[in-house]
Amino acid sequence: MHRRKIIAANWKMNKSISAAETFAREFSRRSDLADACDIVIIPPFFSVRPVADTLAGTQIHVGAQDLHWEASGAFTGEVSAAMLQDAGATYVIVGHSERRHLMGESDAVVAKKLAAALRASLIPILCVGETLAEREAGRQTGVVERQLTTAFEAVDERAAAPTVIAYEPVWAIGTGRTASAEDAVAMHRAIRDWMQTRFGETAAAVARIQYGGSVNPDNAAELLAREDIDGLLVGGASLDAGSFAAIAGAVPAA
Ligand code: 13P
Repeated sequence: MHRRKIIAANWKMNKSISAAETFAREFSRRSDLADACDIVIIPPFFSVRPVADTLAGTQIHVGAQDLHWEASGAFTGEVSAAMLQDAGATYVIVGHSERRHLMGESDAVVAKKLAAALRASLIPILCVGETLAEREAGRQTGVVERQLTTAFEAVDERAAAPTVIAYEPVWAIGTGRTASAEDAVAMHRAIRDWMQTRFGETAAAVARIQYGGSVNPDNAAELLAREDIDGLLVGGASLDAGSFAAIAGAVPAA
């Protein structure tokens, strides 16, 4: 089963609007990279529209970092799926570990956000991953399976299909400590096995599973060479257009 790789830039809370536009202008010169893989730029909310406008006419996609599960209403500070689409987003990150651990987002909240994204036909990038303590206790697979079970609880096979899953071990994020390709592959296989049990063989075969955590131009090729690793979710190394282009350029020819 050939799965098209997907390389995404999660800028987190970085870049002004003008810095975002400068990146998008520079990166649009490398829009040929999108021939070999799906590329998604995920800026802070207020830069979604300017980045989408700058990349219009290319095959490069734009996403958002979070959403609220309601369509509208009295939810100060929140942004709905429809608002993100209105701004030009086609992807949205759901359940990033920084939201889970720094903002106290529970598995149940992540489930509501996943369902809202899928209802709106935004493509979710659902993040899962264990902490260092959980890995050291040998609980990593159980933790990730619990995160998946709750996130997909109210989602059927057809609705779930577009979801991209990002395995991001918390201990590898922003630490310079990448998971070894073997550890990443082992977890990606466990996630695909979970998908098979929950949604069946076809759904599991087409599901795209990204790795994220200290990815950079030097380790991208080794990770992307593995059949079980369907792409990368890149934080720090995605802030520079040249560095992110080098990562996207490491996708092996199909
Ligand atoms: P870093 O690439 O900076 O480790 O961040 C990974 C990440 O959290 C992407 O969502």
